[in-house]
Amino acid sequence: MIQFLLNNKLVSIENERADTTVLHFLRDKQALTGTKEGCASGDCGACTVVVAEPSSCGDNENQQLDYKAINSCVTFLSALQGKQLITVEHLSNKQSLHPVQQVMVDHNASQCGFCTPGFVMSIFALYKQGDSVNRLSAINALSGNLCRCTGYKPIIEAALDVCNARVADQFSEASTSTIAQLSALTKTNAGTENLILPKSRQALAQAIRKHHDAVLVAGSTDLALVHTQQLQAINKMISVTGVKELKRIEEADNMLTIGAACTLSGLQSILLNHFPALQEVMDRFASVPIRNQATIGGNIANASPIGDMPPILIALNAQVVLDNGMRYRSMPVADFFTGYKETKLKNNEWLDSIKIPLPTANQILRVYKVSKRIEDDISAVCMALNITLNNNNVLDLSAGFGGVAASPKNCLNLSNKLVGMQWSSIESLKQGQQILLNEFNPIDDVRASGAYRKQLLQNLWHRFWLETNNHEHRIETRVSQHA
Ligand SMILES: Cc1cc2nc3c(=O)[nH]c(=O)nc-3n(C[C@H](O)[C@H](O)[C@H](O)COP(=O)(O)OP(=O)(O)OC[C@H]3O[C@@H](n4cnc5c(N)ncnc54)[C@H](O)[C@@H]3O)c2cc1C
Ligand code: FES
Ligand code: FES
Repeated sequence: MIQFLLNNKLVSIENERADTTVLHFLRDKQALTGTKEGCASGDCGACTVVVAEPSSCGDNENQQLDYKAINSCVTFLSALQGKQLITVEHLSNKQSLHPVQQVMVDHNASQCGFCTPGFVMSIFALYKQGDSVNRLSAINALSGNLCRCTGYKPIIEAALDVCNARVADQFSEASTSTIAQLSALTKTNAGTENLILPKSRQALAQAIRKHHDAVLVAGSTDLALVHTQQLQAINKMISVTGVKELKRIEEADNMLTIGAACTLSGLQSILLNHFPALQEVMDRFASVPIRNQATIGGNIANASPIGDMPPILIALNAQVVLDNGMRYRSMPVADFFTGYKETKLKNNEWLDSIKIPLPTANQILRVYKVSKRIEDDISAVCMALNITLNNNNVLDLSAGFGGVAASPKNCLNLSNKLVGMQWSSIESLKQGQQILLNEFNPIDDVRASGAYRKQLLQNLWHRFWLETNNHEHRIETRVSQHA
């Protein structure tokens, strides 16, 4: 059984197709049609809903609810286990509009009927998070709401006004009882015949051995598209998101270990703490609602040539750890990929974690993501460069690339040729460009032509050389100014 609160009503699901999305459940089974379907691929935000769950910090008495916006069109029902699902219909307390709705009215901040509910829900999540909000954090919170047709500026003003004058609402008044109900649900053994929800490494191993026909699912931001875009059925799934071993984040022996089922939102603060240079690419990874669901493990296991984390992890000399319940094995991230969407994962194996060496003195990291839009867009090219200098002498250099080959790649020739050279010499610039010119032959696709990608490699290398030789050349973007 899958159990969750739909606003304050307990819902128990015993028999539902594994690939039923939250959006279809709401619209088709609950007649809650305020949540709209625009793109059905996580891009437009019309389907935005909010999920709340007890925060992992605080003892039982001081626990609070964490509110997150998600895209219901790319979320399967299994993700709701033990959570509260709030839709646009639940915001008004029947006597008056919720402050977030009222402020939209006051500012004439309307989009069309498809887009408005999604904007309202994104602002509602921001409102409930309780942090102080500035213009950039408001824009960030709206990163998953694509449309800029009509009321975008008033919407930002509305978000700023309401989030900086918060008052208690019916959700805060009911929070103690909501936390108690949700905590009780997490103690039950959840799952259905077709939606298996293991909680431990051993239970996951058993489930994989027993259900050969099941597909592993994490945040489903990638897998759901198989169903919603390619219209294929996914009959049975094993979710890894409840497996406690896959949700750990640990630091020991100069190594950061991140469990494969950690979401991009969940790992952001620790990653940025050690690698502040990742701020821009993390802010530009999809959108807030996608990052609230998407896991680092899913980003690697899907072996997309244009995933953003693999080039970064390759440049950082990270290792992936694979597991089958009996034995762990690890390898450099670059060696994990064997071809287009192919990896070294064997049957019965899963991605357990990623191990990232912590930065050393004089290590400089830069990541360049080039895409058509700033937010919510997949890279045409992603280039991550990690150089260690000693008095202008190149001690170490590692690099990761996305969008220029059938899978994420490293480029060992760069370190082979450049280690030992004077970094500020024009020779370093020219040699690096020549190596990259010879190394990759990217293809043409809808995102960019092969020739453009090849040129980008040259230009980004030039930019890296300029930026790391003279800080005046740092090229600021809106997102890096935010950092
Ligand atoms: C609108 C939109 C924007 C996006 N923007 C970006 C972007 O900017 N950058 C980017 O890199 N990606 C982007 N993506 C792609 C996607 O969000 C990421 O790749 C995400 O990290 C996938 O993680 P997930 O947890 O959702 O994976 P899922 O969809 O749950 O799974 C993806 C694949 O990985 C497998 N898998 C998951 N976890 C494990 C595990 N622990 N062990 C073994 N196999 C596993 C699944 O079986 C499946 O084959 C975007 C997607 C959407 C819909
Ligand atoms: S319908 Fe467009 S993001 Fe879900
Ligand atoms: S499509 Fe809805 S306002 Fe633009």
